[in-house]
Amino acid sequence: MRIILFTGKGGVGKTTLAAATALLSAKKGYKTLIISADAAHSLSDSFEIPLANQPKKIAPNLYGQEINALEEIEKKWGEIKNYLTNLFSSQGIDTIEAEEMSVFPGMEELFSLMEIRNYNKTTDYDVIIVDCAPTGDTLRFLSAPEITSWYLKHIFPIQRTAAKAVRPVANRVLPFPFPEDKIFEAMKNLYTQLAEMKEILVDSKKTSIRLVVNPEKMVIKEAQRAFTFFNLFGYAVDLIIVNRIIPLKVQDAYFKKWKTIQASYQQMIKECFSPIPILSSDLFTQEIVGKELLYQMAKKVYGKKDPTQLFYAQKPITIEKTDGGFDLYLNIPFVEKKNIDLFQKGEELFIKVGSFKRNILLPQTLLNFSIKGARFEEERLKISFRQ
Ligand SMILES: Nc1ncnc2c1ncn2[C@@H]1O[C@H](COP(=O)(O)OP(=O)(O)OP(=O)(O)O)[C@@H](O)[C@H]1O
Ligand SMILES: [Mg+2]
Repeated sequence: MRIILFTGKGGVGKTTLAAATALLSAKKGYKTLIISADAAHSLSDSFEIPLANQPKKIAPNLYGQEINALEEIEKKWGEIKNYLTNLFSSQGIDTIEAEEMSVFPGMEELFSLMEIRNYNKTTDYDVIIVDCAPTGDTLRFLSAPEITSWYLKHIFPIQRTAAKAVRPVANRVLPFPFPEDKIFEAMKNLYTQLAEMKEILVDSKKTSIRLVVNPEKMVIKEAQRAFTFFNLFGYAVDLIIVNRIIPLKVQDAYFKKWKTIQASYQQMIKECFSPIPILSSDLFTQEIVGKELLYQMAKKVYGKKDPTQLFYAQKPITIEKTDGGFDLYLNIPFVEKKNIDLFQKGEELFIKVGSFKRNILLPQTLLNFSIKGARFEEERLKISFRQ
């Protein structure tokens, strides 16, 4: 099975491109399911077909589902949530606030995404396309397996095996109720499921992320941040799709400057995301809703290509810890191995090798270190960060 996730800044065209891709995938003969994991569902609007919590047929080979995560959250997190609410209340926090604090941001997306686990176990579909929430939320929920595990571990530091012995004493001395066995059970299940999900997501032969951008500064910056993050967490980005490009044939003077600006940002997109392949879509003369327009868009974006193929299969950036610092490796294809120019400005790192330019946003950890050198090792550029 192939899993493709669409993400990007708010409003860039994620839902539209996810829907268009799903439609083309179905036309190519793959049994395709498109899922909305964005709590603010808009797939129904895009296809102009009402969708619900169960897969519904949209076209031959194509099914759509808008997951209602609240039910799933109640099932998997309900017990833990009740315990946390009691815990926070016992600390004098107002009940309503305590309830709010016992669910974390991005949780709905996380639990929607967990649905992929179920499909992964079956052979019901060849392709699953996921319309994700805007980048901020997606980042949180994709890192959620780690964060949630950390959160659970630290909030419940005592192993379940020790709990029975400790509980009678703990309940007397602790100023809050000690968790019951069923809470530990619920946590263990959640742990297992999160780990399973993470495994599916980092399987780069099966799962990839497509970042949708517009040729605009803020949008690119956010996508870059997401790109670095995905690299760090081991999620593969296989394609960048630039949406809403004003076609060159538009001669209207009003758009003249816009076209120049967009051209320069298209160049910047190459520098930020190369060697990940980039496809693009023009700004249409109207909104893209309904199957006919979605199909037109898909054909323009993918041409004759199979939209489900893995467009890029390597990790473009890797970071390794060493004695006294970190080494950052960049896959830079086909560059002459000479004159490496590095320039760091805040969290941005500009790299120039011959005529090749790259621009990456450094992860927070590396900001405490300084660059101590760069050289080519096989096909990769190695940049050393030391204290
Ligand atoms: N290339 C395009 N040409 C014309 N209209 C477009 C294009 N791409 C998207 N749109 C329109 O822009 C609107 C927003 O697109 P869409 O809902 O896909 O964005 P989104 O990134 O999913 O937004 P959100 O962050 O709110 O989920 C829709 O009405 C869609 O039809
Ligand atoms: Mg959307």
